[in-house]
Amino acid sequence: LISRAFRHQFIIPDFPGFTKHIEDFYWKCKSNIEGKVAAYIPQLAHMNSEYWGVSICTIDGQRFSIGDTTIPFTLQSCSKPLTYAIALEKLGQEVVHKYVGQEPSGRNFNELVLDHNKKPHNPMINAGAILVCSLLKSLIKPEMTLAEKFDFTMNYFKKLAGGESLGFNNAVFLSEREAADRNYALGFYMREHKCYPEKTNLRECMDLYFQCCSMEANCESMSVMAATLANGGICPITEEKVLRPDSVRDVLSLMHSCGMYDYSGQFAFKVGIPAKSGVSGSLLMVIPNVMGICTWSPPLDMLGNSCRGVQFCEELVGEFNFHRY
Ligand code: DON
Repeated sequence: LISRAFRHQFIIPDFPGFTKHIEDFYWKCKSNIEGKVAAYIPQLAHMNSEYWGVSICTIDGQRFSIGDTTIPFTLQSCSKPLTYAIALEKLGQEVVHKYVGQEPSGRNFNELVLDHNKKPHNPMINAGAILVCSLLKSLIKPEMTLAEKFDFTMNYFKKLAGGESLGFNNAVFLSEREAADRNYALGFYMREHKCYPEKTNLRECMDLYFQCCSMEANCESMSVMAATLANGGICPITEEKVLRPDSVRDVLSLMHSCGMYDYSGQFAFKVGIPAKSGVSGSLLMVIPNVMGICTWSPPLDMLGNSCRGVQFCEELVGEFNFHRY
């Protein structure tokens, strides 16, 4: 980092100038009071709707944060691209996509629906992510117990975050498991259609899914995860090679087409950056070869995306030409 600084070789040369704009967007979005905090479990319902944070990490490790960027939140659906990445890394694209598709579902994230091959549409919706958890449990080191697989998954997430803040919220996990009629319905529906690898234990697979949703990070550590994806799988903080470039390409392709619930098409059109949102109000954005961004603000719009987060993305591409096309 220091030698690059001396050579003036940063990917964003005028970083202070750039972050001044980020600050402006931050304050602009702060006055947005639209949306409702997710209420399906008490731990999310009690979240303060005022929380608002933005963190940036460039592929050469320049950092910027503003607002509530060290308060932990659960990953929820932002864990979906991460578990998908682990599955790709360990099993390869061909095996993973024998079980799960690449098509936007055009439906809500938790709808009881499979594609015409009787597979979940993609790994970014609940059915697809539950299926990916079954691959993690049954096909990657199947001898591991659920406890060992939890550690394995969490360690992987931690490596993506450069060892920065990553925890587990047990109250959210227990609530998720209690309030999970739809997810269980999806789980059993997929078992009826023989979607899982042989020997899948559905209870363990569902638990792993709820555990992944209940991992906790903050804006700062999530921006490092996004930056690892922006940097072809090499964490810019530790310089560890966490993912292969081909795994990253697949993850970003599906974040681009399926990452923002049933707003993914419009988001790809207007913003044109791969992103993934979660019901805790987090939004993970990847600008390939430039930087990772994480925003967090609990109030969600009708489709389940963070209102301030979506506005922030639109402000960003309104000012800077990060749209892929
Ligand atoms: O599984 C669920 O429905 C919740 N844990 C919400 C996950 C989420 O963020 C929605 N995702 N696409």
